[in-house]
Amino acid sequence: MEPVKDAIAKRAHVGTIGQYRALYAQSVEDPAGFWAKQAKRLDWFVDPLVVREEEEAEGTVDFSWFGGGKLNAAWNCVDRHVAERGDKTAIIWAKDEVGEYEHISYRRLKQEVCRVANVLRAHGVRKGDRVCIYLPMIPELAFTMLACARIGAIHSIVFAGFSAESLKDRIEDAGAKVLVTANEGLRGGKTIPLKATSDKAVDAVGDLVETMIVVRRTETEVPMKAGRDVWLHEEAARQRLSCPAEWMDAEDPLYILYTSGSTGKPKGVLHTTGGYLTYAAFTHELVFDVHEDDIYACVADIGWVTGHSYIIYGPLANGATTVMFESTPLYPDASRYWRLVDDLGVTIFYTAPTAIRAIERLGDEWVTKTSRKSLRILGTVGEPINPGVWQWYHDVVGNGKCAIVDTWWQTETGGIMISPLPGATPCKPGSATLPLPGIQPVLVDDEGNEVEGNDVRGNLCIKGSWPGQARTIWGDHARFVDVYFTRFPGYYLTGDACRRDEDGYYWITGRIDDVLNVSGHRLGTAEVESALVAHQAVAEAAVVGMPHDVKGTGIHAYCICTPAWEEKDRAEVIDVLKKQVREVIGAIATPDRLMVVPGLPKTRSGKIMRRILRKIAAAEYDDLGDITTLADPSVVEKIVDDHKAGK
Ligand code: PRX
Repeated sequence: MEPVKDAIAKRAHVGTIGQYRALYAQSVEDPAGFWAKQAKRLDWFVDPLVVREEEEAEGTVDFSWFGGGKLNAAWNCVDRHVAERGDKTAIIWAKDEVGEYEHISYRRLKQEVCRVANVLRAHGVRKGDRVCIYLPMIPELAFTMLACARIGAIHSIVFAGFSAESLKDRIEDAGAKVLVTANEGLRGGKTIPLKATSDKAVDAVGDLVETMIVVRRTETEVPMKAGRDVWLHEEAARQRLSCPAEWMDAEDPLYILYTSGSTGKPKGVLHTTGGYLTYAAFTHELVFDVHEDDIYACVADIGWVTGHSYIIYGPLANGATTVMFESTPLYPDASRYWRLVDDLGVTIFYTAPTAIRAIERLGDEWVTKTSRKSLRILGTVGEPINPGVWQWYHDVVGNGKCAIVDTWWQTETGGIMISPLPGATPCKPGSATLPLPGIQPVLVDDEGNEVEGNDVRGNLCIKGSWPGQARTIWGDHARFVDVYFTRFPGYYLTGDACRRDEDGYYWITGRIDDVLNVSGHRLGTAEVESALVAHQAVAEAAVVGMPHDVKGTGIHAYCICTPAWEEKDRAEVIDVLKKQVREVIGAIATPDRLMVVPGLPKTRSGKIMRRILRKIAAAEYDDLGDITTLADPSVVEKIVDDHKAGK
């Protein structure tokens, strides 16, 4: 057990475990009172009349928070801070170019947001319309999301590493009539052709997208389609510096964010305004123990939920200084993060275990040659952190002086759910520790019974609602109910397996479904399989996760080739198929290992035995279990031999 550090506890909002326990008890005894108080951290145009309502009827569920309340998220993240801290830096943009930073004050942020809001309005965007954003980590991304919030448009941000096809699917599903993109992105010294990808995606959705607004990130010229494409800087220069903020209902949608599930295409998780923002602000302050003078850096990409909640909405709602990091942890070398920390005096730093592992393996000196003396709190998110890596983060990066917060949550939860509080919770490396106030995790056995007590395992579920909870899947409420509330009625199903140890600490042990956490990014095996079978070379494909030193989980694909491709050069086929996945989904989904196999292990009823494929992928050949019931056991021997031979 790693004790809480006195220096951190002394100035913390919650400074003892007793205080945490009291707060937690209060939050579950009187949730309405507790959350009503939390909602007061926001500025409401009209105060809420009710705190929460939960409705359940045959086959459906419905939660709502802060009913009757009216507010605007951009107002809360920007305007209200201008009077109090107008000159304070809201965003520090850490450019891809080493050592180049741009500081944007709250006052300037307001003007930029208003200008972009006016540009969107001028192009016909109204309350409730969807705007798709496909931008790299540049300030215009923050301006655009807040501009949407300001006028009541729903943003749908697509990670700039996704392919044209993934972008197209998301534009289409959301029905976005405006796309905001950039001529190019810049990352790790390399350019990313965002406009070209956007053109492909937009051309493929017919005339759905009426306007493409393009940010100029680099000097590269790109073709602009007359009547459709406009430059943001030209449009913004013509607009006023002010723009009225829409009065939004607490339950009006704020954004859609697509995430992978175990089946089908990615689903558009929908977050609403009042509850989400309350929860993002509350958790950001509590978990990162944020104070007025902190310099806070979450180095995730805004294309994922971590960036939504903990680069933009949480920090800005709290009036903090937040960093937007455009580059990568290894560019130009493995000191990049710590150089960022020293250059800016970062006090709170939040990243993913995969990035820590990538840096750790290159040797301590990349870290130790930097000072890092400003750091106080170090966070991780996205996947379980190996205890050894936790210790390294603590000892080497944090010099043994920082609190580590291993934060467990999901796109659907809107914000952190299980995490230590830096000034209060003794840590066990590898455990996300204890639930935040207001959150009731339960472990449920496969029959749907709550597993009581400690030193137990089960399916991690959440009892009751919390303000940041996703309200629906865009356009498919039935799927929302089906995925999260049907297997164990009365609970929200997270999809994670979990252990609660003898001290009541939570340990996430992996997914219970076919979702992979690859470098902390969530991918469905079904998505990768469907990208593979879309190629003429593939007759059938099965995809599983495999242990990977840096990524945590890597992607292992097994493909049966069509007759015409069977005789081709193996290495060439593998290359073609990896490229296929990159083109259909994006580079993050590229299989780490792809095998061409003569068949797949199937039961006599034709079901693929993924358990066996997972074991082979992990090189656990002696632990395949009973294979005699398979339709053709010899397939397994052949795959094992080829796997051992590195084919
Ligand atoms: O499996 C859990 C894992 O990431 C999943 C959620 O992925 P996503 O919606 O993309 O959100 C990631 C960022 C919030 C979870 O179901 N996960 C996330 N954080 C942790 C984690 N697993 C273990 N420990 C964590 N701290």
